[in-house]
Amino acid sequence: MTAPVTVGVSLGDRSYDILIGPGLIGRAGAEVARRLPGIRAAIVTDANVAAHHLAAMQASLAASGVEAQAITVAPGEKSKGFDTLQDVVAGILDARLERGDAIIALGGGVVGDLAGFAAGIVRRGMRFIQVPTSLLAQVDSSVGGKTGINTAHGKNLVGVFHQPQLVLADTEVLDTLPGREFRAGYAEMAKYGLIDRPDFFAWLEQNWQAVFAGGDARVEAITQACRAKADVVARDEREAGDRALLNLGHTFGHALEAATSYDSARLVHGEGVSIGMALAHRFSARLNLASPDDADRVEAHLSAVGLPTKLSDVPGGLPGAEQFLTYMSQDKKVARGALTFVLTHGIGRSFVAKDVPASQVLTFLEENLRQ
Ligand code: GLY
Repeated sequence: MTAPVTVGVSLGDRSYDILIGPGLIGRAGAEVARRLPGIRAAIVTDANVAAHHLAAMQASLAASGVEAQAITVAPGEKSKGFDTLQDVVAGILDARLERGDAIIALGGGVVGDLAGFAAGIVRRGMRFIQVPTSLLAQVDSSVGGKTGINTAHGKNLVGVFHQPQLVLADTEVLDTLPGREFRAGYAEMAKYGLIDRPDFFAWLEQNWQAVFAGGDARVEAITQACRAKADVVARDEREAGDRALLNLGHTFGHALEAATSYDSARLVHGEGVSIGMALAHRFSARLNLASPDDADRVEAHLSAVGLPTKLSDVPGGLPGAEQFLTYMSQDKKVARGALTFVLTHGIGRSFVAKDVPASQVLTFLEENLRQ
């Protein structure tokens, strides 16, 4: 079997490795036991992921002498709340795990955020290992230590920064991912090219079919994405500056998710980000910050892979521009009422723009809602 690629996240004494490659669930036990000898663990997963991968994970841990108990939650965003958090915490305490033991998140973004939050608060912080099973989780949510749950007030409003000690991104598990979910993760991957890696974006334009097919191109793309994220997190772990660039496409995207009542039949997060990135480039061109050719190029690539790029690509009716603006100003990335956007001077030349005038956003939204 080919050796996995290692990407390091440099955070002083909290530095850790991301291993990327096929077959990593099978060697999880060896990787965990080598780094954290003598630990016990709880595997937090959801029922869907458990059906595919839990037995292999448990067998791998057992073969390396790591005792692990499974805590299985219901699949879906609803599990990212206080009720399920309480169940997970109870499961960890019932298993009598100590602070030096580990919580292993086996699943997508919901499981990673939930399990990471539990690991961050039980016994004032336990060890944490991410085994992301969706593309979105492999290239974004499993790296960087953001954990948390949703409340009635909004998404991800309660949580802690709690870095994992190891991330195992098994690229083979993505073979069984539904096409729509893979594409949604791809949007977050393309985002790194658009933020500050124009060569990576150009590489994706040439190689996206091979990335979708699997094999070396997929490993390479995930490696580049994780490297990009690791660099940003190492520079700005707590989002005091540069890390906000990772929100490219997210202000429009989150507003769209709210406007579609978080109904995944209509829109999933990565699709909102895809439309949001296309709109951020179009809006930047409208403000004469970037060439419209770049916006065309972004739209062309995202459309080519089958992602939505326009508000009219969302099935069902959407609210008016004023309502969109309200959703945007409720987004947690809005500081003291001023609209903060990630805008761009061109492909790979994104920047954080504070105090973007609401009137310009409104006019832009009105035009796009008419299209
Ligand atoms: N997903 C954005 C971040 O990790 O900062």
